[in-house]
Amino acid sequence: MGKSKVLVVGGTGYIGSKIVRESLAQGHTTFVLQRPDMDMDVNKLQMLLSFKASGAQLVEGSFSDHQSLVDALKLVDVVICATSGLHFPTHSILLQLKLVEAIKEAGNIKRFLPSEFGMDPSRMEHAMEPGNVTFVDKMRVRKAIEEAQIPYTYVSANCYGAYFAGNLSQLGMLLPPKDKVSLFGDGDVKGMDYGSQVAASHCYHIFYEGCLTNFEIGEEGEEASNLYPEVNYTRMDTYLKRYL
Ligand SMILES: NC(=O)c1ccc[n+]([C@@H]2O[C@H](COP(=O)([O-])OP(=O)(O)OC[C@H]3O[C@@H](n4cnc5c(N)ncnc54)[C@H](OP(=O)(O)O)[C@@H]3O)[C@@H](O)[C@H]2O)c1
Repeated sequence: MGKSKVLVVGGTGYIGSKIVRESLAQGHTTFVLQRPDMDMDVNKLQMLLSFKASGAQLVEGSFSDHQSLVDALKLVDVVICATSGLHFPTHSILLQLKLVEAIKEAGNIKRFLPSEFGMDPSRMEHAMEPGNVTFVDKMRVRKAIEEAQIPYTYVSANCYGAYFAGNLSQLGMLLPPKDKVSLFGDGDVKGMDYGSQVAASHCYHIFYEGCLTNFEIGEEGEEASNLYPEVNYTRMDTYLKRYL
C-alpha cells in the first residue's frame, strides 16, 4: 500500500484519536491539527504530546483562522476530519464548510474524508426532528465537497460497538444494564435535553425502522468487508463477553 501524508482534524476525539494511531501504525506521515492553547484542556494536550512522541507532527490551526487551515493543508495530500457529531453549543459538523473552503484554496488535496462515521445521511432524508440535524448538516457538507469537486470518501460506519452494543443501546449508559432495559420511542418526552432527544430519535430509526439493515449496498458504495478481507471481524456474542 502506498504511503500518504495525512492531516487529521479532530484528532483528540473519540474517533479521531483512533484514526491518528492507525495512520501512524500504517506508516503514513501523520499530521494532527492542534487547536489554539485556550481551546485545549490538559488531557487533550497530553494526548497530542503522546501522538508527537509516536511520530505524529502537530500543526497549529483553527477553524476561525482560514490561512492557518490552508497552511496546514499544504503539508499533506489526504485530510481526515473527525470533528464532533454533537450539535451543542456549536454545529461542529458545519465547521467543515470552512475546511472545504480551505481545501479549495490549497488546491493540493487528493482525498478528503469528512466527519461522517455514522448512519449514511443520504438514506436519512425522512429522519424525524430533532435527530435529523445530524443528517441535514452532514449532507450540507457533502454538497459543498461535491460542488467544489474535491475527491472524497464517505465512511458510513453505522453504529460503533462501544456506544451501542455493551450497554444494550441504553442512552446515558456504557455498561450492560443489570435490572431493566428501556425501549425508546420518538424522544418526545418532557424533561429530555436536546442532545438526548437527538440520540433518542436516532435510536428510533435504528431499532424500530431498522435503518442500518433495510437496504442493499449498491453501486454507490462498497461494503467494508470486501475492501478489507484481511480483517477478522468480531461476532457480537464474542464482543459482549468482554463485559462479563
Ligand atoms: N457511528 C457511531 O456510533 C458514532 C459514534 C460516535 C461518533 N460518530 C460520528 O463520528 C464523528 C466524530 O465524533 P466523535 O464522537 O469522535 O467526536 P468527539 O469525541 O466529540 O471529538 C470531536 C473532535 O473535534 C474537535 N473539535 C470540536 N470542535 C472543534 C473546533 N471548533 N475546532 C477544532 N476542533 C474541534 C475536538 O477537539 P477537542 O478535543 O480539542 O475538543 C475533538 O478532537 C461525528 O461525525 C459523529 O457523528 C459516530
